[in-house]
Amino acid sequence: MKTKWIPLIIGSVLALAVSAQENPLPSSDALLQNAFNRPATSLNGDWHYLVDRYETSVYNFWRIPFDSVQPEDYGRDAVWLDETPKDKTDRLEYDWDSAATLTVPGDWNSQVEELLFYEGSIWYRTRFDDPRTNAQDKLLLYFAGANYRTDVYLNGRKVGSHIGGFTPFNFFIGQQVKPKGNSLVVRVDNQRDPSGVPTDVTDWWNYGGLTRDVKLITLPQTYIQDYSIRLDPERPEELTGYVQLEGSGVAGQELKLSCPELDLVIPLSTDQSGKATFNQSLKGVSIERWDTENPRLYEFAITAGPDRTTDRIGLRTIETRGSEILLNGKPIFLRGICSHEENPLKGSRANSEADARQLMAWARELQANFMRLAHYPHNEYMPRLADELGILLWEEIPVYWTIDWKNEATYALAEQQLGEVLFRDKNRASVIIWSLANETPDLEEKVRFLRRLAEYARGYDNSRLISAALFKSKSADGKMTVSDPFSAYTDIIAFNEYLGWYEGTPEILDGVEFVFNQQKPVLVSEWGAGALAGFHGDALTRWSEEYQDYLYQEQLELMDRMPQLAGFTPWILSDFRSPRRMHPQYQKGWNRKGVISQEGERKQAFYRLQAYYDKKKKAETEK
Ligand code: GCU
Repeated sequence: MKTKWIPLIIGSVLALAVSAQENPLPSSDALLQNAFNRPATSLNGDWHYLVDRYETSVYNFWRIPFDSVQPEDYGRDAVWLDETPKDKTDRLEYDWDSAATLTVPGDWNSQVEELLFYEGSIWYRTRFDDPRTNAQDKLLLYFAGANYRTDVYLNGRKVGSHIGGFTPFNFFIGQQVKPKGNSLVVRVDNQRDPSGVPTDVTDWWNYGGLTRDVKLITLPQTYIQDYSIRLDPERPEELTGYVQLEGSGVAGQELKLSCPELDLVIPLSTDQSGKATFNQSLKGVSIERWDTENPRLYEFAITAGPDRTTDRIGLRTIETRGSEILLNGKPIFLRGICSHEENPLKGSRANSEADARQLMAWARELQANFMRLAHYPHNEYMPRLADELGILLWEEIPVYWTIDWKNEATYALAEQQLGEVLFRDKNRASVIIWSLANETPDLEEKVRFLRRLAEYARGYDNSRLISAALFKSKSADGKMTVSDPFSAYTDIIAFNEYLGWYEGTPEILDGVEFVFNQQKPVLVSEWGAGALAGFHGDALTRWSEEYQDYLYQEQLELMDRMPQLAGFTPWILSDFRSPRRMHPQYQKGWNRKGVISQEGERKQAFYRLQAYYDKKKKAETEK
């Protein structure tokens, strides 16, 4: 053993103890709004990879993190140095160029058989040339998402880290890049963490890797970092919002917000902090409001000196009135369906526009006008496409089941992820509900945790509805209700119930009645039953399509008599992978509650739900 490590061990053990407490979460540089539409150099493609199960390039053999020691102390063993042997005598225990490759974006589990169950660290490497034509410009390295913990190294130096598997992060690297042959090495670690968000138990597959797009974005020294453009929820005859500049000389800048289709040109100037706010009357401007039958989007352009960005934005209002949800002031019924961010046909994370089109085409075929994107923020192709197609969305952060409620670091992680999805999707008309949690225990510390998140969300965006998927409970008179104290802080009462599946068989639904002690819209955010496509039996044979269909029949009748009902989202659009599903005949690692199977087959229940929604839609249009 190298004796030089001894003083270091003592030092680092102490450092380690301190760091966990004091060091805030590693995070990205300020996120860039509308990175989706910014001209960019894609880094998608095949990246070399190295599996590092024992984190040999993170810690030395005495678990001293390389991050906490000087370069001369960890020699050349770390793969992120991206070295090549100097000569035949040179000992290097890795070689990037001969390493296998993984496709980015993509989870590693579905690409390499032996990685299907892999949970740990994998290192990725790619090379790129500096795409800037003007070296004075800024260069942003943007990740649309990677699961779960990501460490980024450029040319052998650490750039930064991010924790959270479903939201974007980015780093300015303009200072570190070379004109040619930059080495980008990224560690992704999907090990589950009991104090993480999500925690270490979920009913979905823990897909790991660079699961979403990676790209380079060139920006001028002063650039448009953020903006919000929408109808004022209090005065919808006004357009309201702001533009935030970042970089050098942001104060007192003249900029312009324009929308040719609306013949709108709004001159703006920034304050000391580089922010310009606006409230523009729309009197005399005829606007087509965005809605599910007419998803009208308007092209807005923001120009600030050398920088310009454009975005297609729908203008609509969403609010509640008693037990109704009003879209543009008119009651709407949410004909919904839940979906995971997975393409069952590929057995992998969905990560492309094509995947989003597949999932939304299925939802459209069901005559759904609403999707619950469970249980974490999905990739940005989903809300962008939902804007185009007129599908309303519920977005959620993975505060799921047994979170470490009293742990401040866990809270910070939840708030960080919430902040990142609010930031990314605040200009998406399709997104109407921010949901903060799913099926969480009735504990005081839980209510405190979620109330903080709700205050944070309302403080950031008061134009959408706040929710959480709660549990149902029994009321004193034997009826069913929702008594979770957090329901007092949400705009709608949303709950999951599995009557006829986890509780009894479908016929028990006959006598069920619900009552609510708050005059709010009710949304049943989950119900369902498992069925193996093609397996048939009588209506009480578990796992048969007939059982699932019978359950749907009973649930739809219950929905018809549910008080204050504004919508529901059956669990779930398609079968999905889950490590909790072990039945060797009916499940084989898949949750079979989809109305569409792993192979894309429509189960009987699909057609029952489709017919129900078709009838509901027709009734709405005839009103
Ligand atoms: C839960 C949970 C889902 C899960 C489903 C099921 O309610 O929210 O994540 O997959 O039930 O058991 O199928």
